[in-house]
Amino acid sequence: MPPEPLPAGELQRLRDLDRGALWHPFTQMQVWPDETPEPPVIVRAEGNWLVAADGARYLDANCGYWCLALGCRPERVERAIAEQLQRFGHSTLLGISHEPAIRLAARLTELAGPPLNHAFFADSGSEAVEVALKMAYQCQVLRGHPERSKFLALGEAYHGDTLGAVAVGGVDLFHGVFKPLLFHVHRVPPPHCYRCPWEKRPESCALECASALETALETHAHELAALVIEPFVLGPGGVIPQPAEYLRRAVLKARELGVTVVFDEVAVGMGRLGRLFAFEALGLKPDLVCLAKGLTGGLLPLSAVLASEEIYAQFLGAFAERRTFFHGHTFTGSALGCAAALAALEVFTEHDRAFLKQVQDVTIPAFWKMLEPLRAHPLVGNVRGLGMMAGLEVVADKATRANFDWARRTGHRVVLAARKRGVNLRAIGDLVLAVPPLTITLDEIGLLGRVYREALDEAFAQA
Ligand SMILES: Cc1ncc(COP(=O)(O)O)c(C=O)c1O
Repeated sequence: MPPEPLPAGELQRLRDLDRGALWHPFTQMQVWPDETPEPPVIVRAEGNWLVAADGARYLDANCGYWCLALGCRPERVERAIAEQLQRFGHSTLLGISHEPAIRLAARLTELAGPPLNHAFFADSGSEAVEVALKMAYQCQVLRGHPERSKFLALGEAYHGDTLGAVAVGGVDLFHGVFKPLLFHVHRVPPPHCYRCPWEKRPESCALECASALETALETHAHELAALVIEPFVLGPGGVIPQPAEYLRRAVLKARELGVTVVFDEVAVGMGRLGRLFAFEALGLKPDLVCLAKGLTGGLLPLSAVLASEEIYAQFLGAFAERRTFFHGHTFTGSALGCAAALAALEVFTEHDRAFLKQVQDVTIPAFWKMLEPLRAHPLVGNVRGLGMMAGLEVVADKATRANFDWARRTGHRVVLAARKRGVNLRAIGDLVLAVPPLTITLDEIGLLGRVYREALDEAFAQA
């Protein structure tokens, strides 16, 4: 049944309340009320589409911030949540246990395979990263190496917004102001082919980025608790894909030096790159894996850290030995979240992973075919990414790759122009993102391509 638009007076009341009471994340609230067209107020969703209070429909090409992997209304996940709610909505994992968490831990570890035999739950991607950092460090203490208290991370990394995650993050715009509050992290420049920190071109590249990471590992191994990395693509920090071999060299070197490897798969896991776990494409497993976003199909906040047998074993001992991992949240292993994740995993993996095969064989190629011609647009300096995760970098000058004055918000102008045309996008600075649900249809991909072009044209005319 088509939605009834809210009466105009009620919509205005909601807008007033939005402006008065709701503080939006990553948003300059002073300019928020002045946007044209106004930010839609979503009241329902259908398929891959959001429906606003005024009846307007938006293809959600940001998919609820990269988490609605199975679309806005994944029927089986919704059903699983409703059924779980009939049994119980919440119970703790402190002191007692519950069925959905047990089943999900067993399923995730079965799918990840040994040695990733243990699952620890939290509520968000940031919290999963906090858990992994604390686990990695305490593990070193338990191994008798309390001096191994530092982390190695990449420039432009993004691991979330809680303080530990911010410390390992490397996006100055987001993280700079908090520096006095953060622990020190060793950092290597990101492997960024479009803006190579070593000023190399493909023909002159000798993977200096990988060598720099290896050197940093060698230099600091004696004091490192872990290497923390978003595998294959740095996400919110710029959708920066890593050159082939970069990750393999990083993991092999860390292994050789006994440095724990943490993969932050919050963005790239759960089908985003066409595989359930991003590490499957590497053929090597990290010691700790952080999962969130699409884990529940994106409907409920739940995250997980998968830990290797060796790490888990360090935490075992008599009660008085104080080897316990003293960490947990009120909603750790939320029953509703676990039920949602079990249903989402069923969709991802049933019929020999047919859903993921379709994503790999059909959706991802069509997505990149749609993006390809946008490279020629006069406003677009670079189109990059991997799987169902892309970023279009708008530039003032294609030859010099110079960006626009940041305050002009050229990327956001593209977003507003797309909004007029019924597509919900998001930009980070001058990087216009394309991270749609994995359920996006070929027709919707075609629509996305048309709207990108028109929105870029409109922003170019204003530039
Ligand atoms: C790679 C990565 N790590 C961690 C996070 C933080 O996750 P959350 O927003 O659920 O805290 C994000 C969120 O975008 C992410 O992309």
